[in-house]
Amino acid sequence: MTADDIDNLLHEARRFPPPADFSQNAVATAELYEKARSEGGPEFWAGQARDLLHWHKPFTTALDWSNPPFAKWFDDGELNVAYNCLDRHVLAGNGDRVAIHWEGEPGDSKSFTYAELTAEVKKAANLLTALGVEQGDRVAIYLPLIPEAVIAMLAVARLGAVHSVIFGGFSAESIRSRVDDAGAKLVITADGGYRKGKSFPLKPAVDKALEPDADGGTSTVSTVLVVKRTGGDVDWHDGRDLWWDEEIAQVDAEHEAKPFPAENPLFILYTSGTTGKPKGILHSSGGYLTQASFTHKTVFDLKPEEDVYWSTADVGWITGHSYVVYGPLANGATEVIYEGTPDTPHPGRWWEIVEKYKVSILYAAPTAIRTFMKLGRQIPQEFDLSSLRLLGSVGEPINPEAWVWYRDVIGAGTTPIVDTWWQTETGAIMISALPGVTTLKPGSAQVAIPGIAVDVVDERLRSAGPDQGGLLVITQPWPSMLRGIWGDPERFIETYWSKFGPTTYFAGDGARFDKDGDIWLLGRVDDVMNVSGHRLSTAEIESSLVSHPMVAEAAVVGASDETTGQAVVAFVITRASQADAAGADDAAAVLRAHVAAQIGAIARPRQVFIVSELPKTRSGKIMRRLLRDVAEGREIGDTTTLADTQVMTIISQTMR
Ligand code: WTA
Repeated sequence: MTADDIDNLLHEARRFPPPADFSQNAVATAELYEKARSEGGPEFWAGQARDLLHWHKPFTTALDWSNPPFAKWFDDGELNVAYNCLDRHVLAGNGDRVAIHWEGEPGDSKSFTYAELTAEVKKAANLLTALGVEQGDRVAIYLPLIPEAVIAMLAVARLGAVHSVIFGGFSAESIRSRVDDAGAKLVITADGGYRKGKSFPLKPAVDKALEPDADGGTSTVSTVLVVKRTGGDVDWHDGRDLWWDEEIAQVDAEHEAKPFPAENPLFILYTSGTTGKPKGILHSSGGYLTQASFTHKTVFDLKPEEDVYWSTADVGWITGHSYVVYGPLANGATEVIYEGTPDTPHPGRWWEIVEKYKVSILYAAPTAIRTFMKLGRQIPQEFDLSSLRLLGSVGEPINPEAWVWYRDVIGAGTTPIVDTWWQTETGAIMISALPGVTTLKPGSAQVAIPGIAVDVVDERLRSAGPDQGGLLVITQPWPSMLRGIWGDPERFIETYWSKFGPTTYFAGDGARFDKDGDIWLLGRVDDVMNVSGHRLSTAEIESSLVSHPMVAEAAVVGASDETTGQAVVAFVITRASQADAAGADDAAAVLRAHVAAQIGAIARPRQVFIVSELPKTRSGKIMRRLLRDVAEGREIGDTTTLADTQVMTIISQTMR
C-alpha cells in the first residue's frame, strides 16, 4: 500500500448502517459480543462447540494453554468431522436439502442433497479404507473444483486421516515437495479439469512428481486414485494407479463414522512464508470445526433453510477448506460450487450462476471485483441479481472504490458487505463486521469477532494509539488456530511466537485502529506478497529464478497492481556468458516461464528486468523498498544507506 492509499483510507467517511429488516432477522446480534466478553474466550467457545456440533463424547475442558504456543481445545472430547457435515443433517430430517449445486465450466451441472452427498462420502471412505488409509495417514488431493474434491476431503476426514489439498495450478515440483514433506501414502487426482474454455491435464504433473528423483529416492506414495473428468488420455502405472469410478462401484454403501479425539489432525495446507520452503500449516478437528461453523453462520447470517451460499474459492486454498467445505456443510447450508473461471464462456458467467441458483450470499476476492469493475457494470446488469442479500470479501484489503462498486452494482445498493480478515494459520475468520450489527466502513475489516482478541502494537508490544500504524497481533488463543507447522515445531515457534513471546501471535500484517476502534489492514510487513489474494513468497520465487543456469542473482518484490493487488516483479542479474547469448526480452520470457513451470502459473512474474546491479546495504542486504519504487514507477526513496549509491541510477537507466 502506498502513502497515498493510506491517506485516502484515513479520509474515507462513508458509513452504511445495517438495513432495519436485516438487523431484525439477523442470526448474530450485538448481545453476542457481550456474551463473549462476560463469559471469556474459552467458555464462550465451549458453548458454541456444544451448540453447533455433535460430540460423540462430550468434552469437559475447553482449553489447555499450559504449554503455549501449543494449544489444545476441547481435548477430551470426541467427534467425527464428516459426521458433523453430513450424517447428522440426514438424521435430523434434512436429507432432501441440497448440499451442493455444482456447476462445471463447460456447462454441465449436478446437485447433491445431503443424503446423496453422505452416501458418496461413505463409499469413498470404504474405498480409502480398502486402500489402507487409517487414522493419521496423510492423503494428498490434487483435483479441479469438482464434487469429488469435496467428497475426497470429507472421506479422509471421516477416517480420522489427514488431507493435504494441493491447488490444481501447482507444478510437479510443488506436488513432490508437499507429498514428501507430509509423507503422503495416497494421491487423489483427475485426468484433468476445465479452465478458460479448455481442458487441461492434471495427472501428468502427479506422474512427474512421483518419479524417482536424481538420487533414486522414491516417493512415499503407493496408490494414485484418478477421477475421470475430461476423458483425456493418461499414462497408466499398473499397480499404482486406479480409476476412482471403477473402484468406488465395488465398495459397500454403508459406513459408520467413528469418533476421533478433538485434537486429531484434520488437514495440512501448505502456504508461502518468508523463506523459500512452503510451510505445512496443521489444523485439528474440534476447535477448527467450531470456529469455521460459528463464523460461517454469524458473519454470513446463514439461514440454512432459505439461503443459497456461494464462495468462489478453490478448495486448494484455506477459504475453500473453511468456507466451501467445513463451515457451510457443518451448518447444513445449500451452496454453489463452480469449477471454472469467471469469464468463461462469457464475462457474465458468475452473474449467470447467481441468477440460475438464486444465490443469496456471495463470498469473493477483491481482485475479482476489481476485474469486473474494469469490464463495466453493464455486464452484471444483464442478469437478475435480486436474490443477493449479503456480500463478502476476503484475501486482501478491499479498496473503498471496489467496496462501493460491489455494493452498488452487485448488491443493488442495499446489501451489507462483510470484509473478512483471516489467514491460513487462523483457520477461520478473525476480524469482520457482523452484518446485522455493524455500521460498515468501506475499506475497513472493522472489529474482532466475538470471542477473539486482537491488538495493534509497536515492536515492544505496546498498544498503538488510534490512527498509529503498528503490527497486528492476536492476544488470546482461539479454537481454529494452527496447531503447528507439519514436522517443524521450531519453525512454528520462530515464525509466529518468537517476536512477542509464546502467548502473542504475530500475524505478519500491518494494521491500525481508527478513532472508533475499527481495524484497517495495511498489508504484509514481511516478504510475503499477496497476488490476487494468494500468498507468494519473495524468497521462493527468488530461489526458483537462481535455479536457472542463466541467473546469477535475483531479487523479487511485490509491486502494487490495480487489479491483482500486488504483482510479482523480478530483478535479475544474468551470468555474463549466458546473458549475451539471449537478448534481454528473450531472457525475461524464459525466466517467467521457468518460474511458472517450477512453482505454478500464479507465481509467474508480471515483469522480469535484467539489470547489472542490485541495490544492497553495506551489510549486503537487498533493499527491496528501492526496487519497489522502481517497479511502481515512483521517485526513488532514500539511497544513502546503499553500499554503492549509484546503483539505483544504473538500474533505472537499464530499465528505460
Ligand atoms: C491478507 C486468506 C486485508 C493478509 C484467508 C493475511 C487480508 C493474508 C484480508 C492471509 C482482508 C486476508 N483484508 N488483508 N480482509 N484477508 N488478507 O493465508 O495479509 O491465503 O495475512 O488466507 O491475506 O492469506 P491466506
